[in-house]
Amino acid sequence: MKIYQITGGFPLGGKIRVQGSKNAALPMMAAAALQEETVTLQNCPRISDVFCMERLLRALGAKTEWEEDTLRISCGSIGSDLAGSGESGKLRSSILFLGSLLGRNGYAKVGLPGGCTIGRRPTDFHEMALEALGAGITRTEQTITAYAGKLSGNHIRFPKVSVGATENAVLAAVCAEGTTTLCGCAREPEVQWLCRLLRRMGASIEGEDSGCILIQGKKKLHGTVFRVPPDRIAAGTWLLAGAATRSVLELDGVLPEEMNAVLKVYRKMGGQYRVTGDKLFTDSTRVTDGVSYVETAGYPGFPTDLQSPLLAAAATLNGKTLVRETVFEDRFAAVRQLMRMGAKAEICGSVIGMEKSQLRGTRVTACDLRGGAALVIAALAAGGSTEVEQVQYIERGYERLPKQLEQLGARICVTEE
Ligand code: UD1
Repeated sequence: MKIYQITGGFPLGGKIRVQGSKNAALPMMAAAALQEETVTLQNCPRISDVFCMERLLRALGAKTEWEEDTLRISCGSIGSDLAGSGESGKLRSSILFLGSLLGRNGYAKVGLPGGCTIGRRPTDFHEMALEALGAGITRTEQTITAYAGKLSGNHIRFPKVSVGATENAVLAAVCAEGTTTLCGCAREPEVQWLCRLLRRMGASIEGEDSGCILIQGKKKLHGTVFRVPPDRIAAGTWLLAGAATRSVLELDGVLPEEMNAVLKVYRKMGGQYRVTGDKLFTDSTRVTDGVSYVETAGYPGFPTDLQSPLLAAAATLNGKTLVRETVFEDRFAAVRQLMRMGAKAEICGSVIGMEKSQLRGTRVTACDLRGGAALVIAALAAGGSTEVEQVQYIERGYERLPKQLEQLGARICVTEE
């Protein structure tokens, strides 16, 4: 078992190149299965969720090849059955193959998707959208199967905003016959980037920034070369790590316009920043105060993925920070671990209150990806030494985290037990 051992209480400093986006890369990998040529993804993060998605592509018969951070996916002839691979249950995005394989082969079978345990995470909106496009869906305790002689465009309204269900519906609709309108869609940048990639593959899509997406189905899509955008959640994690440790950091290769909600919170804490091109210069030396109230929400609101990292930073700030989690019903495991480090936190329904705390090193367990990142942030700010176990959750989404932290001067060593 791999453990991160972090000695905290020191500011970080220097610059960091922000990785490519996990949540953009995963649906793009599912999209590659829609065509018979090669989709080349540059700036693709080398993280375990991407490797898992790559294994799923290979299980279908696709050929994949890495050259540094470029991933080439060739899908000359591929199958439709992922249920036997044993990989579907390891991540949530495996369900996106339902949409793309239906579009490609008219049939798809996946094992029930996994992902971090942060709430119920049902798949009803995914299934509803695919059914509306003409697919029949059957479920067993282990699998979801979708089949369609032919997919036909339809008007679909999502009852609640879902990133994954929006992506799945788009993936199925781009090769359906006729026009599809999708309303009540997620407007997350990752949905928008998927649509941009699909357009480069020959799809006809409009309106993805508006919540209502219009798609004209195409018979065939083709290969392309595309650059995965920077990871706004990883960038936000670095920003909050800087805030918690009162550091001066340069984040390179970011899209600050996708980070407005977290930058607003950072400013309220007393953080200062300036943007030059794709560089974000952050100065947390005057960070002092907690933010009275933050609510997580779909984009452009404050991302649920940064809820735990924000609470870790809040434990170092004056006053009380209140955060209401509105997206997932059980995303509080990290708070319980932070309390073990001395965090003065209170969970009341969906609201977490965090007061300034004397964080101290101890042994803690990462229970999910972003919660794990929050523990690392707390460890960097805490007095003494913290051991973070179950780091495989963290490595699902953060590329070379210990190396990057070391580069910023953090005292971290990776041990095996
Ligand atoms: C994606 C992101 C994840 C992020 C989340 C919300 C990826 C790989 N993951 O997850 O990092 O935290 O968006 O921004 O991109 N829901 C249903 N039925 C469904 C689907 C969703 O009830 O069929 C509910 C979920 O339980 C949740 C809410 O809708 O309460 C939003 O979930 P969703 O946007 O679908 O999250 P994911 O796509 O799984």
